[in-house]
Amino acid sequence: MKDYEALSRKHFDRQAAEYDERDTVYYSREGKISCRDIAERLKDVPYESLLDVGCGTGFLLDILSKRKSARYVGLDLSVEMIKMAEKKRIAGAGFVNGSSDRLPFSDSEFDVVTCSQSFHHYPRPDRAMSEAYRVLKKGGIYILSDTGIGGIGAWIDNHILFRLSRTGDCHTTNRKGIAEMMEKAGFSVIGSYQISRFIYTVIGRKE
Ligand SMILES: C[S@@+](CC[C@H](N)C(=O)[O-])C[C@H]1O[C@@H](n2cnc3c(N)ncnc32)[C@H](O)[C@@H]1O
Repeated sequence: MKDYEALSRKHFDRQAAEYDERDTVYYSREGKISCRDIAERLKDVPYESLLDVGCGTGFLLDILSKRKSARYVGLDLSVEMIKMAEKKRIAGAGFVNGSSDRLPFSDSEFDVVTCSQSFHHYPRPDRAMSEAYRVLKKGGIYILSDTGIGGIGAWIDNHILFRLSRTGDCHTTNRKGIAEMMEKAGFSVIGSYQISRFIYTVIGRKE
């Protein structure tokens, strides 16, 4: 397998400075839709700690922190994305450079884990899913919003699940596939929504 993490890191390091401003499909348009959807679904969810995996420039944490005080942590593979997030000085938020596959947190540390438009980049999706499960408290909520296959194409190397799913090596990142993967990791799926033709959000609870 190619070093997809290295490809992602390079790709997003390059995009970081312009990411927020360029409201297009190749940049932040989908992310903004997913982040706003996640924020909406979290409105009535009580939490004191929240981890955003693949946080990018901190768009989601910025929305959430303006609404509610809590411990917010953003993790991302790209140092340049994290630098952009840190510039926003988001209240209560800390940022960590790392991988979805190896979350540098203790078991049961967070009430909520979110993931917006990032999961389709992960080379080992099952591993990323079980890491989210591990760091959540019992009863904690995992909200994943992404773009399904058939939507934006596999035009860059790091949209790996689009590529791998074509060859049958990997689970597709569609709504049904993500729900199945969540169940396999131990979550109960408590919500599954189609946001637009290609964007969906799935919510799991750690039982
Ligand atoms: C399309 S951006 C989405 C950013 C943000 N969540 C949003 O919705 O605006 C995808 C982000 O996932 C990060 N990423 C990709 N693969 C990752 C991995 N394996 N672990 C952690 N972050 C990753 C990228 O560096 C990038 O910042």
